[in-house]
Amino acid sequence: MPAFKTISDFDVAGKRVLVRSDLNVPMRDGRVTDATRIERSAETIKALAAKGARVVVLSHFGRPKGERVPEMSLKPVAEALAATLGQPVAFADDCIGDTAKAVVNALAPGQVAMLENLRYHKQEEKNDADFAKALAALGDIYVNDAFSAAHRAHASTEGLAHLLPSAAGLLMQAELEALGKALEKPEHPVVAIVGGAKVSTKLDLLGNLVSKVDVLVIGGGMANTFLFAQGIEVGSSLCEKDMADTAREILEKAKAANCEIILPSDVVVAGEFKEHAANAVVAANAVPADKMILDAGPAAAEALAAKLASCKTLVWNGPLGAFELKPFDAATNTVAQAAAKLTAEGKLLTVAGGGDTVGALANAGVADQFSYISTAGGAFLEWLEGKELPGVVALGK
Ligand code: 3PG
Ligand code: MG
Repeated sequence: MPAFKTISDFDVAGKRVLVRSDLNVPMRDGRVTDATRIERSAETIKALAAKGARVVVLSHFGRPKGERVPEMSLKPVAEALAATLGQPVAFADDCIGDTAKAVVNALAPGQVAMLENLRYHKQEEKNDADFAKALAALGDIYVNDAFSAAHRAHASTEGLAHLLPSAAGLLMQAELEALGKALEKPEHPVVAIVGGAKVSTKLDLLGNLVSKVDVLVIGGGMANTFLFAQGIEVGSSLCEKDMADTAREILEKAKAANCEIILPSDVVVAGEFKEHAANAVVAANAVPADKMILDAGPAAAEALAAKLASCKTLVWNGPLGAFELKPFDAATNTVAQAAAKLTAEGKLLTVAGGGDTVGALANAGVADQFSYISTAGGAFLEWLEGKELPGVVALGK
């Protein structure tokens, strides 16, 4: 983790502080459907306002590609933020220029404003120097609190850090500390659970993890490709047959690095990809030709739960089965609940994030029982891949 300043390093009273948050939240019919990112981002905004800063919140929303797409306005998000903060949030119709300036200039110490979607300007994603300057003109200090957008080298996540005195926000700090504990300086043994549909999307991630963790559990559709690569027939299961060589290479790399790979010993099979499809438990090497694997089996789940008990750190990305279809969430639930119990007993540090993972853990009823759940999707994956995140790197300079 690079060294960087935090918000306590600055005297922010009366200053215009530009806070880059990631308020790219799920929304339906103009309403926020999951306020997690708003709630987690609110801490930094509140802390700055309490110190008398004039807080200006910047964010992107969706991918409008430089157009003013009305459905991608941040206005409803500003209202949700105001509700979370318990104080008004002024809104500027544009994130640069006179409109933005007028709203920012009207802020008194302790007050908060939000500017319209950064991606209404195509220069944002291009990390355009003039656009970054136009943003910088609105503030005295830059705080990056958007870990979940730190894999993007955009004007607001990267460029700004070079133009203003910069600090990491509280959420950014919390994310980096939790992730550091999980992979950079973890307590061993470390186990990683990586699930999800396709090996092809997680190659870099698997390659990086085998050299860092003691045990790597491969689940979800990806496990089928690994079983197939070892000569096991997987019936009509999702399987990337052209990735068999790659899967074997990962297994070899794991062996050389002394990383134990765990694949399911038994699996739940069904004739169709459907909720409550008729199903059966079979040994992983006895999948009927006309059946597909939709979950790890109960013996595999119990074995994983037992394995967790012998580890000190868990990093989890991706479900073990088709968790969105009942009862194919069973293995994910068993293992997630075992992880939560070990966390509560203080025996296991548990960190999860990325894509479907948070949904799968929420479905298991343990979303608030892990040591840390990241707000990040793509950024969490890139971090697991061992990549440098431009937004984080820029803060360290
Ligand atoms: C996310 O939700 O993953 C972040 O907000 C980044 O969004 P993006 O993938 O559109 O850059
Ligand atoms: Mg994304």
